[in-house]
Amino acid sequence: MKPSTPKTSTKPRRITEAELAESKVAAMAVADYNKAHFAATGTRRKYYIETFGCQQNEADSERLSGMAEEMGYTETDKTEEADLIIVNTCAVREHAEKRALSITGQYKHLKEKNPELIIAIGGCMVSQEKNKERIKHSYPYVSFIFGTSMLYRFPVLLKTYIKEHRRRFYLDTSDAGNIAEGLPVKRRNDKKAWVSIMYGCNNFCTYCIVPYVRGRERSRLPKDIINEVKGLIASGVKEITLLGQNVNSYGVGLDEPYDFPRLLSEICALDGDFSVHFMTSHPKDATKALIDVMAENPKAAKHFHLPLQSGSDRVLAKMNRRYTWAQYKKTLDYMRKKMPDITVTSDIIVGFPGETDEEFSETLSAVKEAQYDQIFTFLYSPRHGTPAAEMEEQISEETKAERMKALLDAQNEIMLARNKALIGKTFPVLCEGVSKYNKETYAGRTEGGKLVHFYADEATVGKTVHVRITDAETFSLFGEII
Ligand code: 5AD
Ligand code: SF4
Repeated sequence: MKPSTPKTSTKPRRITEAELAESKVAAMAVADYNKAHFAATGTRRKYYIETFGCQQNEADSERLSGMAEEMGYTETDKTEEADLIIVNTCAVREHAEKRALSITGQYKHLKEKNPELIIAIGGCMVSQEKNKERIKHSYPYVSFIFGTSMLYRFPVLLKTYIKEHRRRFYLDTSDAGNIAEGLPVKRRNDKKAWVSIMYGCNNFCTYCIVPYVRGRERSRLPKDIINEVKGLIASGVKEITLLGQNVNSYGVGLDEPYDFPRLLSEICALDGDFSVHFMTSHPKDATKALIDVMAENPKAAKHFHLPLQSGSDRVLAKMNRRYTWAQYKKTLDYMRKKMPDITVTSDIIVGFPGETDEEFSETLSAVKEAQYDQIFTFLYSPRHGTPAAEMEEQISEETKAERMKALLDAQNEIMLARNKALIGKTFPVLCEGVSKYNKETYAGRTEGGKLVHFYADEATVGKTVHVRITDAETFSLFGEII
């Protein structure tokens, strides 16, 4: 069955205190069940979580982990030890779906060894009817699935399964989506934190499945976001990333008029030593007002992720992106005029249906002209139910791969030149720890997300240091603390 195009105007549902209380009560019941097990056996029940996809999914998994721990599970990184396995899936490209299914397939033998094992699959992939059916029929050892809008009910769903031992498939078929506040969270990093400011997407780019699996755009209340950010700053977090599929639409549908530039400036005005990042911005809504707020606020990280997707106006129109390359370039030029050192990154899709050699060359020229610091490149992947999947003239995998190679070659050259131009400059860098590539050095990222290696000591970890760049490669910089 093909998903129908959802409406864009549905009002979101704010999850009520009573519904949150139901989840809390369920969490306490599961915690009691786990305590009894510990009292009887001396071992704690464990959970393992696997996350695919974007930062929003990472943020969701931090909430699922928070809930699992509230229910008395402790985390393990070994699937064989787990009593509860949670897979948080992605549906943006076929590759991510295939990987999630293949990993789920590997859990079959774990369930055979331990029939008590609970396997719960959530996220975007299972939010589609066709995948629900697939899991129902081909993965009989999966205990339950829960769509993205069911996340806050996870303890209720788990408790139901423990009680009834019956497989269930929870999908929310309404388009509106919901907003749940105050869920427990287990943050993966004590210096960097994600803060979702809005959920869903109304843009319906013709290649993209997100609007179908994450529902309509809906914004959290400014006071809830600001309170969360204040709490993070108080706990020592240094880097805050505001998350949304299209942060520039923040505020649409709130009772009080409020927009993203205002939210960003109010967060930047909070006391404390921290920087604010955000992603993702749709180019059609990246306004001068937002760029001005960034330029005026030292706490706003000078990094803009502005996905271009294609440099051809005809392809952009077929993608329903609602901007032209010239309009995009104007935004980019304004940004660089206001913040000459800003890091700009982008997403590009190659092999969109009907993309000709000339149109791909336009993308290549646009990428060369834009001089991005980094691009994330994707082979177009048809998504069931989206308009582009139905378009004729699908491009062969061979052509997509050739175009991808040409694009990466061009971008690597640009990155090397841009990184070399940074030699001699000094940047604040949050030291993250010993470098993965060279155990003798430490590593961190600039505000713009560029990886920097430098000599330091353990005491530097978690601190922001000023590093002068002394050498540069395509994917990383080297420097010395000054
Ligand atoms: N095929 C390839 N890439 C896609 N993206 C989204 N949908 C698809 C698809 N069907 C890419 C876009 C988006 C990024 C997160 O994923 O470039 O910006
Ligand atoms: Fe997908 Fe477009 Fe929405 Fe981004 S803006 S999530 S690419 S539909």
